[in-house]
Amino acid sequence: MRAVSLECRQVARDAAEDGNNKDVGGGACGKILIMLSWALVIITMPFSLFVCFKVVQEYERAVIFRLGRLLSGGAKGPGIFFILPCIDSYARVDLRTRTYDVPPQEVLTKDSVTVSVDAVVYYRVNNATISIANVENAHHSTRLLAQTTLRNTMGMRPLHEILSERETISGNMQISLDEATDAWGIKVERVEIKDVRLPVQLQRAMAAEAEAAREARAKVIAAEGEQKASRALREASEVIGDSPAALQLRYLQTLNTISAEKNSTIVFPLPIDLVTYFLKASEARA
Ligand SMILES: *[C@@H]1O[C@H](CO)[C@@H](O)[C@H](O)[C@H]1NC(C)=O
Ligand SMILES: *[C@@H]1O[C@H](CO)[C@@H](O)[C@H](O)[C@H]1NC(C)=O
Repeated sequence: MRAVSLECRQVARDAAEDGNNKDVGGGACGKILIMLSWALVIITMPFSLFVCFKVVQEYERAVIFRLGRLLSGGAKGPGIFFILPCIDSYARVDLRTRTYDVPPQEVLTKDSVTVSVDAVVYYRVNNATISIANVENAHHSTRLLAQTTLRNTMGMRPLHEILSERETISGNMQISLDEATDAWGIKVERVEIKDVRLPVQLQRAMAAEAEAAREARAKVIAAEGEQKASRALREASEVIGDSPAALQLRYLQTLNTISAEKNSTIVFPLPIDLVTYFLKASEARA
């Protein structure tokens, strides 16, 4: 309780000091300094122009501080802008989109698998003034936040979701990152999850599972084929059984095939009638 009240008093004193500074910056002393600076510019006229006029590129903005205070009217640029020597300082801010390659992060997923995930984040400065005034290094902060957000987002999900719903996850990441970086004048445009690397053992296990599934499917297909083939054979045998001439023709065809393929083998054709005789004999015995 006492600590809190002390803190409050400290804050109050800081505020009071801030107020005093404000009086100095915008007050009589500041006005005198500004006038002196103008006088300097006018006295050294042709040469002072080289110092006073600055140029920023189309994609840049200049945030100007006059005696330590942000100049009203926001960031200047693109093109030419004016500063007073000695009392103005300015910072250039690049507004172009930057790409940040998030290094691979070791993440423990919700179902306790360690995976290594990396991503790419595309972001740009949205508001130059805020990106200079509110945060010491907006880019560094955004990058660190991207890393932790990646880890947190992945840690909240089971592995199968990470593997199958990358688009959704990167969308969610983009939204949460963008919300967090609003205070720094940064707009996160896009997040892409590049790669999810699994541990080698798990990779092997998953490969074995997939292979087993494929093998099972192959066996089913082979069995179905066999079934169809046997049905076709039965139909064929029925047809042959109906007409003895068909059997004779088939016999001759087989002989033809054998003589063509194995032309070094000598085949002595046995009259089919003999065969049928034996067939009938065996049928009679049965
Ligand atoms: C940047 O933020 C400041 C402070 O919130 C605001 O006054 C200014 O209009 C913003 N500039 C742009 C370009 O949005
Ligand atoms: C025997 O068959 C082979 C190929 O199977 C062929 O090159 C050869 O000419 C044939 N011989 C005769 C005598 O037909």
